[in-house]
Amino acid sequence: MDAADAVKVARELLFKQAMVSINGEWVGSLAAIPSGKAESTLNYSEIFIRDNVPTMAYMLVVGEYSTVKNFLLTCLQLQNTQFQTRGIFPTSFAEYEGQLIPDYGQRAIGRVVSIDATLWWPILTWAYVQRSGDYDFARTAAVQNGLNAFLELVLHPGFRDAPTLYVPDGAFMIDRPMDVWGAPLEIQSLLYGALLSAAGLLQIDLKERQERSIDNLRQAERLETCLAWIVRLRRYMLVHYWVTSTTVQVLRRRPTEQYGESIENEYNIQTETIPHWLQNWLGSQGGYLIGNIRTGRPDFRFFTLGNCLGSIFDLIAPPQQLSLFQLVINNRHDLVAEMPLRICHPPLEEVDWRKKTGFDRKNLPWCYHNAGHWPCLLWFLALAVLRHPQKDSLVIKESEALLHHSYKLLLNQLPYQQWAEYFDGPTGAWQGQQARVNQTWTIVGFLLAHHLLHENGADANVLNVPHIGDFNFSGHKEIAH
Ligand code: GLC
Repeated sequence: MDAADAVKVARELLFKQAMVSINGEWVGSLAAIPSGKAESTLNYSEIFIRDNVPTMAYMLVVGEYSTVKNFLLTCLQLQNTQFQTRGIFPTSFAEYEGQLIPDYGQRAIGRVVSIDATLWWPILTWAYVQRSGDYDFARTAAVQNGLNAFLELVLHPGFRDAPTLYVPDGAFMIDRPMDVWGAPLEIQSLLYGALLSAAGLLQIDLKERQERSIDNLRQAERLETCLAWIVRLRRYMLVHYWVTSTTVQVLRRRPTEQYGESIENEYNIQTETIPHWLQNWLGSQGGYLIGNIRTGRPDFRFFTLGNCLGSIFDLIAPPQQLSLFQLVINNRHDLVAEMPLRICHPPLEEVDWRKKTGFDRKNLPWCYHNAGHWPCLLWFLALAVLRHPQKDSLVIKESEALLHHSYKLLLNQLPYQQWAEYFDGPTGAWQGQQARVNQTWTIVGFLLAHHLLHENGADANVLNVPHIGDFNFSGHKEIAH
C-alpha cells in the first residue's frame, strides 16, 4: 500500500468508525474500533483522555477546532467534585442511554487510578486556545474554575518537600504495576507542561481584568505560586533525573549516609543501584531523564514518552534535547528495531518481573508495557525533533533520517497488522499477544507522523507550552528549597 492509500484508510477508520458523537457532535474517539469478535472488548470502547491526545492534536492540525472544544468541555463536565478526588479528570468515559459515565479508576482493572488524564487537560486546553485563537474560551468561568480545581489538587501542602507529584503504581499510560510508583518521569514531565499551560491560561484571563478586586488578587497570587512551583520543579528534575556519562561518574563516587541540608547524595543512593548497561546506553554523547527518583531506589529505566514530553515541553534545554536524540540514534536497534518505539528499556525480568509486576502475564518481559513496542509513540518523537530550533545540527539531520526510516516501518506494517495496539519481542516484530486491532492511537499516530514528516513539519509546535520567560515572574515568591 502506498502512503496516500494508507492515509486514506487511516482517515476513514478514524472519522467513520472511531469518532463518537453525542447530540450530533464529535466529542472524542474510542480507544479501539470494536472488532466484532465475541471476545470482551473490556473498556476499549470508551473514550480515554490519554488516547485522545493524538486525536485532538490531529484535529488541531487539520483545523477541526470545534471537536477539540467539545472534547475539552465534555471532560470538564466530568471533572470530579467529590471531597477526596475533587478536580481530577476521568481516565475514560462512555455514553450510555444519553448519560456520560466516567471512570476515575472505580471500574479499572486492579482499580488503578490514572493521573495523566488530569495533567493532559490543561495542556490540551492551552493547545486548543493557541491554535484556534479562541481566547474567550480560556476566560470562561467553566475553564477558569476547572483550572483552579486542578491547581488546588496539585499545589497544596503535603508531607513531602519535593516539587514532584507522588503517585501510585500504574498512574499513566503504563496503567498496570510496573514499579512505576512514587515520582515516575512521565507524570513529572506532564506536570511541568500542565503547570505552564495552566499559568498561561490564568494569565490570559488576568490580562483582561482591570479592577483590583480580592478575587483578582487571589488569582494573581495563584499564578505566582504556580510559576514558583514550575521553576523549582525544573531545577529539581535537572538535578535528580537528567543523566549523561559525566553525571553518572559523579553519582558513582558520591558519599552515602549523609545527614543535613547541603549534601551531595540527598536520596542516599548506593553506587550498586547504577546499572552497568548505562555505559553503552549513554555512550559519550547521550543523555536522558531517568525513570524515577526514590530514597535509595532510583529507576534508571528509559521511558520513551516521559523523555519525549520532557523535550517537547522544554523541561530539558535544547542542548540536552540534542543529547537525548543522540541517545535515541545510538540505541535505535533497541528503541526502533522493527517497530518504533519501545515504551521502556530494559524490561523487568525474572525475579523483578515476579515481584514488581505481581506475575503480570500481560507484562511479561518484552511484552506490552514491559519493553513492548508501541507505534503510537513515534509522533511524539517527531514533534520533539521537528520543533528543535537548531535545524541544521547534524544530530537533528540524523534524527530526521531515523524518523523517516521509522515512518516507513509504520507504513509497511500497520495496514497489514490491522493497526495493532502494540508489538512484542526484543525487535518488536510480533503483533502484541493481547493487542487490540484498529487501535485508534495507532491509526492517528500514523496520521500525525505522516502529517509532520510529509505535509507540514511546522505543526510540530502543536503541543508547545508557554515558556517561563513569557511571564512577568519576579521570583520573589519562590518557594524555598
Ligand atoms: C491500555 C493501555 C492504556 C490505554 C488503554 C486504552 O490499558 O495501557 O495506556 O489508555 O489501553 O487504549
